Amino acid sequence: MSILLTGGAGYIGSHTAVSMLQAGIDVVLADNFVNSSPKVLARIEAITGVRPTLIEADLCDREAVRAIFRAHEISGVVHFAGLKAVGESVAQPLRYYRNNLDSALTVLEVMREFGRTQFVFSSSATVYGDQPAPLTESAQTGGCSNPYGWTKFMIEEILKSAAAAGPQLSVVLLRYFNPVGAHESGLIGENPNGTPNNLMPYITQVAVGRREKLTVFGDDYDTPDGSGVRDYIHVCDLAEGHLAALRYAESHTGCEVFNLGTGRGSSVFEMVRTFGEVNGVDVPYVIGPRRAGDLAAVYADPAKAQQVLGWTAKRSLADMCRDAWNFQRRNPNGYE
Ligand code: NAD
Ligand code: UFG
Repeated sequence: MSILLTGGAGYIGSHTAVSMLQAGIDVVLADNFVNSSPKVLARIEAITGVRPTLIEADLCDREAVRAIFRAHEISGVVHFAGLKAVGESVAQPLRYYRNNLDSALTVLEVMREFGRTQFVFSSSATVYGDQPAPLTESAQTGGCSNPYGWTKFMIEEILKSAAAAGPQLSVVLLRYFNPVGAHESGLIGENPNGTPNNLMPYITQVAVGRREKLTVFGDDYDTPDGSGVRDYIHVCDLAEGHLAALRYAESHTGCEVFNLGTGRGSSVFEMVRTFGEVNGVDVPYVIGPRRAGDLAAVYADPAKAQQVLGWTAKRSLADMCRDAWNFQRRNPNGYE
């Protein structure tokens, strides 16, 4: 039996593939490479010694998804596939709603056709909207500030309804906080197209000389040093969270939700400082205005994942900075 990782060639999917293969779990990856490269497969093989199956497929294409389930014994699905750029989702809302909702619905319907019941979903802390941290899973969701966030909210609602209607279904919603860093080998990591939207890839591109300087989006927030505070989590800790979620799905039915974060908030200045100290490289920056839609402080209460899944993030901010830089340094232009 295999686990299907939709969007498995992407940043979080590729790290999860490595964690699962190293735990002896067979995986099948499916991706249309809209935001990734098939070259990641050789990197996964170099780390694990196993070359998993990678299928080029659009998860909105029902026949293509059926073909995957016909060709492989899929026991469970981790659904990473989706478009994720917040700004792009504001400019292209229909593309975001179509791709993210359609792919989730198509995979779920085909799973039902084939009698498969385990589904782990990549959700996001963005579903909490603007509420005081630390955020627990029981906080209200909705109030998202962009179409990307609404797709996550809507898919969560679809999954809750599906689990309520089909008692054999086993759904785990994972709300990621801010995944950063890379596998310690430096072979796989985050490789965004165009100008990075997120802090860490922007920092690493400044450090490697691809960009001149970082703009800190606001130093006048109500936070200890005035810059935005987030819950950065090492992508390998996040990957391990998916193993714990799958084990949970194997032995429970219904729909359960977990935050995957460290519970620790770090500011933009702290990140820039730690990156410089750990890696011995300077990250020049200027202070700019606040970015529209940004919140002052977002971090998780991760207690539920620890208590129920037995999972906890282990890697430090220094580990995240070291591993992100290691990947960027070895792959100045990503996988190309
Ligand atoms: P990513 O873009 O690297 O990975 C997503 C993958 O899905 C890409 O490889 C892309 O090519 C693929 N994809 C998109 N639409 C597809 C489709 N219709 N058919 C087939 N493949 C398709 O992003 P990531 O950072 O690895 O994120 C994975 C998931 O986690 C996404 O759903 C994202 O929204 C969610 N998430 C990410 C973050 C983050 O900060 N990285 C935070 C919270 C949630
Ligand atoms: N920041 C800068 N300069 C930059 C980029 C970011 O100062 O060039 C700051 C932001 O203002 C924020 C912090 O760094 O304070 C983190 O910003 P990111 O863009 O890295 O992360 P966000 O928390 O804004 O967004 C991330 C994901 C979203 C997801 C959200 C959920 O990118 O997809 O977490 O919490 F919806």
